[in-house]
Amino acid sequence: MSENVGDWSPEELEKNGHLLLSQLREHFTTLRTQPVTTTRSAQEIRAVIDEPLPTAPQPFPEILRQTWDDVRPNLTLWNHPRFHAYFSNSSSGPAILAEMFTAAMNVNVMLWDAAPAAAAVELTVLDWLAQMVGYPVAQDSVLVDGASLGTLYALAAARERLSGLDIRQQGLAGRDLPRLRIYASDQTHSSVDKAAITLGIGLDNVVRLPAGPTGRLDPEALRAALERDVRSGHRPLAVVANVGTTSIGAIDPVEEIAEVCAAHDTWLHVDAAYGGFWRLAPEVRPLLPDLSRADSVVANPHKVLLSPMEAGALFCRHRDALTNTFRVVPEYLRTRHEDGSVDFMNYSLQLGRQFRALKLWWLIKTFGVAGLTSRLSAAAALADGLRARARAHPDWTVENDSPFPLVCLRHRPHDRDLDDEETDALNRRVHRAVNDAGTSFVSHTVLPTGYALRISIGNIHTTEADIDALWGELTAAAERCAAPRLTERSTL
Ligand SMILES: Cc1ncc(COP(=O)(O)O)c(C=O)c1O
Repeated sequence: MSENVGDWSPEELEKNGHLLLSQLREHFTTLRTQPVTTTRSAQEIRAVIDEPLPTAPQPFPEILRQTWDDVRPNLTLWNHPRFHAYFSNSSSGPAILAEMFTAAMNVNVMLWDAAPAAAAVELTVLDWLAQMVGYPVAQDSVLVDGASLGTLYALAAARERLSGLDIRQQGLAGRDLPRLRIYASDQTHSSVDKAAITLGIGLDNVVRLPAGPTGRLDPEALRAALERDVRSGHRPLAVVANVGTTSIGAIDPVEEIAEVCAAHDTWLHVDAAYGGFWRLAPEVRPLLPDLSRADSVVANPHKVLLSPMEAGALFCRHRDALTNTFRVVPEYLRTRHEDGSVDFMNYSLQLGRQFRALKLWWLIKTFGVAGLTSRLSAAAALADGLRARARAHPDWTVENDSPFPLVCLRHRPHDRDLDDEETDALNRRVHRAVNDAGTSFVSHTVLPTGYALRISIGNIHTTEADIDALWGELTAAAERCAAPRLTERSTL
């Protein structure tokens, strides 16, 4: 930039783009040698990053260098092959480049006229995604930033369909309305609570039914809760069922739950944020329920489908359920309609919207369903290998039974007499020791049996060598952490 007006010249964009891409090349080449996360404290990181508001222009190579030296090493690298925390996910090559293209065009997919081909790509991608999750009955669909907002929108649509209440128009306040109730297992994601807060349902009206050791919602307990509530004059709003719970990857009996919902004329929302796209893997597919009777489904390409944040898909079986909930068109947004045009601003709360569909379009086309399937199957096989190792070891147990590559492990030395509390403390220490070493990164959960290390496998770069390394670190950390116990029981 020679003057203080205008953007980079196209040549500068290309030159700086090359600089970035060659840095990314180095990043991916050396990825395995980089720590998965930082050991610096929050204060230290803020001190490194914080600086006065820049007044003078800075050269891009300098900004990139600072990003490389100060930001990148202080990230937690979700796209690292040894990142196994939360839900291990991926950002794949075509999707990375698609985000650059999208920003270059600065697409805004709010109205058909505002982004015609982008809306067309979104429609096609939504159709492909619905096929992949086994929900081809979808009539109303939209890409959202993630499952939390997808669930909020689905429950808003469910609320709108409750007959005789007209909440969209008349609101909730000051009216003599029955309590609206949402039912879910106690394993259901907290996004349902956030939706209840936002929609004026209230946390007290999220009926959390105990899932027990299987982690599954019991349809009979659900039926009893619905009957009890109806007798009390409450109004069932929706049931939320899971395909892949956050803690252990459990799958609710969706077909039986659908029966109960039908008997009570209650909306069934399925949270398949994690589990939905594993249907592509042939070894997982037979274990997944039929979703076709669900009223709405959320599934996250950004959890499983090799897509960077943010990409969630919301599907709804009822035509216009979303648009009847969210359509508000001020004068300045009134545009012509033609056959086949879609205004995505009417499908959620978002007006200005990124061209999220492009990264999905590019990656699905690049890998094809065959390539996606083999990558997901490879992750499932790696998890099987880890489970087999743990089962063969006298000091480790596999604590969950999930078809997904989500493995909950608990360490209990067979030759020591540890009670449950001591075993919990030992597992906490093993967890901390593995993550502090920086080579692999895992998270945890608390199960009826106690504290467990929770290992999610799903990054596109993860190979058998990474799982070998993880197993080596787990067993080495377990040995280190158990050792002082012999002399210092109280330090556990
Ligand atoms: C089962 C489940 N549902 C929903 C969510 C929320 O997803 P998002 O982060 O896309 O809002 C999560 C997040 O981990 C999850 O595990």
